[in-house]
Formats: sequence, C-alpha cells, structure tokens
Amino acid sequence: MIGCSSKESNDVEVFTWWASGSEKSGLDALVKVFDEQHPSLNFVNGSVLGGAGSNARDVLASRMAAHNPPDTFQVHAGMELADYIKAGQVQDLAAMYTENGWRDVFPARLLELLTVDGKIYSVPSNVHRANVVWANTDVLTRAGVDPKHQPANLDEWFGDLDRIKATGVTPLAMGKDWTQVHLLETVLLARLGPAAYTALFDKREGWDSPQVSGAIGDFARLLTYTNADSQFLDWSDALQQVIDGKAAYNVMGDWADAAFRDQGKKFDVDYTAFPVPGSQGSFDFLADSFTLPVGSKHETAAKAWLTTVASAEGQRAFNTAKGSIPARTEMDAGDYPKYQQIAHESYTNDVIVPSLAHGAATSVRWLADITTAVREFGTTHDVDKLRTTLVAGATKNGP
Ligand code: BGC
Repeated sequence: MIGCSSKESNDVEVFTWWASGSEKSGLDALVKVFDEQHPSLNFVNGSVLGGAGSNARDVLASRMAAHNPPDTFQVHAGMELADYIKAGQVQDLAAMYTENGWRDVFPARLLELLTVDGKIYSVPSNVHRANVVWANTDVLTRAGVDPKHQPANLDEWFGDLDRIKATGVTPLAMGKDWTQVHLLETVLLARLGPAAYTALFDKREGWDSPQVSGAIGDFARLLTYTNADSQFLDWSDALQQVIDGKAAYNVMGDWADAAFRDQGKKFDVDYTAFPVPGSQGSFDFLADSFTLPVGSKHETAAKAWLTTVASAEGQRAFNTAKGSIPARTEMDAGDYPKYQQIAHESYTNDVIVPSLAHGAATSVRWLADITTAVREFGTTHDVDKLRTTLVAGATKNGP
C-alpha cells in the first residue's frame, strides 16, 4: 500500500472518457481493485463523456494549457502519447518500471509504443481490437444470412448487406465523425493489407494509390447502407441499434462486446463478431494507458493508481469487464468471456497494425484533419475531394 505525505491530500483525479455504460462498468471494476489495494486513497472520477476521447482530448488540452492537469490521464499508446511526450507534459516512469519489474510483465512491442529515447511514459491497462464487425444474429437469420458464415471479403459482405436492406432493416449502424474514421480505417486495412495500410502512417506513403481510391469507393458504398441519424450518434447509440435488432451490423472496436454483455446478450447466440471482411489475419491494435502528468498535484496517489493499473488483479478485473485483453502478457483464458479468448488468439497470431481512429497510428493533429475530411464527406460524398484531402494531410502532417 502506498501512503501519502501530509502535504498531499489523499485524492487522485483519474481523467478518462469512460464516463457511461459498459465503459464505466470497466472503470468501476478497476476502481474496486484500487480501493482494495489502497484503502487510504480516494479515487476522484474526472471522466469526460464522448467515445474515443472525442471530447476529453480538448478538455485535457485546455487543462494542460491552464497548468491544471488531472493527477493521471488516459491516453492511447503510440503516436497520441508521443504528442504529450514531445510537449513535455508527461513524466518519465522508468524508475517505477524498474522498481516494480514491469518491463517483464508487458510485451516488448507494447513497451516500444510507450518509450521514447529510452524513457517510458505510461502504464498500459488493456489492448483492444478495432477491425471487428458486430452482428445481431436474429436480424441476419431473418434476412437469410447465415450468422455462422463470415464473409471472406468486402464484395461478399456487400451481398449480405443488400439482402438485409431488402428486409427493410438498417444494414449497417454507424455513428458520427470518429466512428466513421473507424469504419474507413478498417476498409483501408481490408483493401490494402497490413503492410500497405501501415505504410500510410509510418512512411506516409501510398495515399495517392489506386488501392486507397478503391477503399474510399468501398467506404462510400458502405455509407449507403447506414442509418439516417448517424451524424448524431456516439458509438454506443449506433451499437444499440444492433443490440435492439433495428440494425444488422456495426463496425466497432471490441469494447462493443462489453456493451452486449452488459445488456445480458450472449455471444454466438444473440450476437456474433467477425473481422471486417478482407482484414482477416490482421489485429488492428490500440491500447489505453495512464500517465503521470507534469504538475500532477497528487503524485504519490497517482503512482498508486498506476500500480493498480499494472497489477494482475487490476488488469483481470478491468479487462474482463471492458471487452479488451490484458496488456500484461499473462492471461488465463478461462477467466475471460468467449469473444476475448478469440481476440487474444488473434493478438497472438495475427499481424498487428496500428489503429488510426484510436491514436496508435498518427498524431492528434493529423487524426483531427482526417476526421474533419471524413465528416465533410458524409455530406458531400465527394470521393475525389476526400482522396485529395487525405493525400495533402499526409504531407502536411509530416514529421
Ligand atoms: C478507447 C476505448 C474506448 C473506446 C470508445 C477507444 O479509443 O481506447 O477504451 O472504449 O474508445 O470510447
């Protein structure tokens, strides 16, 4: 147990975007372990509503600018974290890693995404997969689509979407801006394959290729199957249409699994999941992690939070509730629901690629530019304009 010096209050403000529904259930499970491990400390919930951090990131930026950071904040591993490191806003945690032996409990390839110049800046809580289609089995069956058959590629999937459309049900539920970027990224992955997809970001190469044009065309076609109110919905509202049988499919990260389960739905009975057709063999990766900001007012308590996040108990409690797999290497599959066992197998065997919509692939600024372009596309449907803007964005947001 970590106590606090008398100068520090026992509060620890933990800033996340896990503010409601199944995400809050996940956070609550982690807080329960924190309370057990550190009974003298007081968790203060600093969450800001809005999927994928869509509102939280702006709030965090204002707080940072006002020198009023939370004690610890959620951040995606990869390029998003790199932004905060470059800005000098987060502290090096190398000493904590050494002291607690954490370098041995997290996989090396994950630690690389948290490390710059030998310093390591956050503690990972979980790993999510983004390239997943979630489906309501009943809606599929009623349309004559076999829920056990996973479409091999986008063209085959379009056939199923047409069959569903003919029954009058929304084929593909979608939400606003970032959820559309999420859909686009999975289509890019399906069309380009893991190597060319990754090169778009790490080499900023290939945006003007025919494959990217083809993917934008596929994306445009997918939008024709979506709900009319998409611009107003966050991920959970869009997914709810699938849970309620008002829509057949939703493309979303595997936090969706927790939302189904929270509402008593059974995997392979009420709902099913499969890789976005064409992206089989790739694990579109993202990880949440927690930092120690420069200027954290309750550093000792914040470090205690980080210790709970890293602990085997914390990871088990959080990830079983959250739909993710643990960031720690050990995972007792028997502790986890069926879907997460499948995700873990994919994480172990498939090619790992970085998620665009969830901070692994690009800086916050580049992602913001892409999100604006995709949002506009929702009204203009101008394929050439989207492609030109994406090409320009890759140059503008160079290193
Ligand atoms: C986060 C997940 C979260 C999802 C929806 C992702 O960016 O990594 O933890 O559940 O957004 O809010």
